[in-house]
Amino acid sequence: MSGYRGFAGVDSAGPDTGAGETSDELLVGRLKRLLLEEVDLHELGRLDESQRRTRLERVLNHLVSTEGIILSTRERTSLVRRVVDEAVGLGVLEPILADPAVSEIMINGHDTVYVERFGVLERIPSGFTSNEQLLQTIDRIVSTVNRRVDESSPMVDARLPPDTRLPRGARVNVVLPPLSLRGPTVTIRLFPRRYGMDELVQRGAIDQPTVELLAAAVRARLNIVVSGGTASGKTTMLNALSAFIPERERIVTIEDAAELALVQEHVVQMETRPPNVEGRGAVTIRDLVRNALRMRPDRIVVGECRGGEALDMLQAMNTGHEGSLTTVHANTTDDALSRLETMASMSEVEVPFQALREQVNSSIDLVLQLVRTADGTRRVVEVSYLSSRRREEFALNRLVHWDPRTLGRSGTPGAFVRHPVHPALAARLQERGQSLPDGFVRAGGSHELDAGGGVSWS
Ligand SMILES: Nc1ncnc2c1ncn2[C@@H]1O[C@H](COP(=O)(O)OP(=O)(O)OP(=O)(O)O)[C@@H](O)[C@H]1O
Ligand SMILES: [Mg+2]
Repeated sequence: MSGYRGFAGVDSAGPDTGAGETSDELLVGRLKRLLLEEVDLHELGRLDESQRRTRLERVLNHLVSTEGIILSTRERTSLVRRVVDEAVGLGVLEPILADPAVSEIMINGHDTVYVERFGVLERIPSGFTSNEQLLQTIDRIVSTVNRRVDESSPMVDARLPPDTRLPRGARVNVVLPPLSLRGPTVTIRLFPRRYGMDELVQRGAIDQPTVELLAAAVRARLNIVVSGGTASGKTTMLNALSAFIPERERIVTIEDAAELALVQEHVVQMETRPPNVEGRGAVTIRDLVRNALRMRPDRIVVGECRGGEALDMLQAMNTGHEGSLTTVHANTTDDALSRLETMASMSEVEVPFQALREQVNSSIDLVLQLVRTADGTRRVVEVSYLSSRRREEFALNRLVHWDPRTLGRSGTPGAFVRHPVHPALAARLQERGQSLPDGFVRAGGSHELDAGGGVSWS
């Protein structure tokens, strides 16, 4: 792919090659080199972007005068702007970052750059000319969040909040030699653009009746778990579901890397913190969940349950914070429940296994299963209601499933199949002022042959 032609940032103006460069480019290169000699990159990193611009403009105007460069006011303004644009940006990375299809950038030493677009890895020509230049760019990235990466801390993981350069925000991980063998290694995960529920419907990830059922469930304060494999769209779905939480409620979100972008005004967003170089000061999801309980939340949204925090989350769902949402890494809805149970047992609080079963049964109401297929499609393949109580075996009742064999309306294979709604769920929705959306019927008997051609629950 030849779309990316790196351009030199302030840190990268190497010797001018002359050939093919216009006098403008030579001048820009010269000024960038001079600018680099004048400014302290670390100090610059502590300023916000507009302060940085002002500082650089001032230095550059001074340089243009002292270097005896004769220009009209207009030419000078445009030259200064161009140099500053390149200097405050991320140089070689800039055109890559501008490509909305890129979800991940991987740099394995200055001469090897890969990008991921639509789930596919692709090597692209590197614009970096040396590891020193790459290091300077890394330094510029991490210094925006007041972090340093050098010999004394050769591994850094930082989240970059959205700004003008990185409108979506990103998570960046850096490993320096000698820990990495091929030069500085950088992994930048650009936070994905969030699809709203309407867009997910348009993309065929879910259908409208299911959306309406889920909206009713969120408003009725049911506790919902979104389950799926890596990159199956869990966070995207969690974000879209959260949009149904009424505006008047106080929402606390807890994530490892703050990826959620909630539409409501009253949101407290929290993020974990890794330990410092001495291995201290870590703040875990679990710490944050416990703390959240003292923050008078109406709802708690946990980005992903991975360990002992599952117990705190389940307890919270059970005690005054109904209507909470989370995701779990699992391949089936059954698996999601067993994983929750197992994770809850990882908590240092010793809880008998049967009590954990009870905890899951009494907390979780709905489980959504997402799947990412080989062609990159993400889809809800099942929505089920957990009807088991107390210490019973988990009993999941399908509300919707994706059947690849049923023909859709347009005659193409694959359709969402709806099942009769378990009376307990229908009653819960009704109690909370929500009706069953069109397309769903309340199940009548205790064994009902449902529209999907199977016994959905008993
Ligand atoms: N329905 C969809 N159609 C197309 N792309 C989607 C869909 N849902 C999510 N995506 C994209 O898939 C990627 C992964 O989504 P997301 O981060 O929500 O998944 P995840 O399951 O939370 O991933 P992880 O396992 O890393 O936590 C993102 O780029 C997102 O924009
Ligand atoms: Mg996720």
